[in-house]
Amino acid sequence: MNDHLNEAVSSAPAKVILFGEHFVIYKNPAIVTAINKRIKVHAQVNDNMQISIKSGEYSLNVRTTSKVDPVLAPDESLSFLYPIFKCVKHVLSEQNNHNVGINLDVDSQIPYGEGLGSSAASCVATVAALYSLFSYRDRDRIYGTAKTMEENIHMNSSGIDCYVSTFGGIVNYEPDRGFSKIGIKKNFSLLIGTTGVKHATGEVVSQVRHFREKNITLFKDLSSRARMICKRALNSMLEGNEVELGNLLTENHKLLTLLGVSHPMIEKLIGRCLDNGALGAKLTGAGRGGAIIALIPSESRKEISDRISKGSEKWMLVEFDHNGVAFG
Ligand code: MEV
Repeated sequence: MNDHLNEAVSSAPAKVILFGEHFVIYKNPAIVTAINKRIKVHAQVNDNMQISIKSGEYSLNVRTTSKVDPVLAPDESLSFLYPIFKCVKHVLSEQNNHNVGINLDVDSQIPYGEGLGSSAASCVATVAALYSLFSYRDRDRIYGTAKTMEENIHMNSSGIDCYVSTFGGIVNYEPDRGFSKIGIKKNFSLLIGTTGVKHATGEVVSQVRHFREKNITLFKDLSSRARMICKRALNSMLEGNEVELGNLLTENHKLLTLLGVSHPMIEKLIGRCLDNGALGAKLTGAGRGGAIIALIPSESRKEISDRISKGSEKWMLVEFDHNGVAFG
């Protein structure tokens, strides 16, 4: 690996699933947007044959030649750093070179384990930074590798998180047509509330798989209602109809509750949003904790979001991100 740069920087955005989480795994549509919260990765080649990853107070050091994965302690630091480590290992082995090491500095604005795609964004930003060291900046290749790594980490991944983090924008996924970006005339105002209840996406996905196996008819009915909601939501977004879009968010949330992926904290935050002027609200991502999103009327976005959040850090008023993965 002589033909490489000594350092490279990349970043990738978080995402929120607007419509269709869980159902998307079973050949149903979904609508997802990238948001303006990012993970930034600074990669530097070292000559001590170590993969050293640092993010705030968390760190992980493993020799590049080690055949053993770092022991997965059930703590947050390793669950956050592990996908990043796997991406580094994978790109180095693709290059067929284990003689150099990599130092990674990871700086994240995305709350971890809250359903905002921190794992996918960390994979996309890491793969992009590593590929940049070898002068590849092909987004399709970054997406392909990050998606494979995410699939290894939580089975049954739809790949939607990595896609939106790589390409940015608002993305409509349809099983027979794949991903397409939606061009909307008007930006909507989204408030994110984090429950502080961490979840493991893979575990919630497995719970839904069991639910589906035991409740075949009910799952079919919920899926067909979720499909209809996605279709109507797409039209509302294209028409800029906020009121309809808000109602559809709340309808989608009711389906997720029936699927068993809500949580008392989620219901509390959603109630708070709806009682204080939000047009609609739902959980986003895997659920059983994590985050909720609320659609705020654009003409009174500040007033209503202040009323809901009361200055608490667990709320974030976000913008859509149209850039996806960025280099440098
Ligand atoms: C997780 O953000 C969304 C899920 O639908 C899983 C996936 O699509 O990979 C729960």
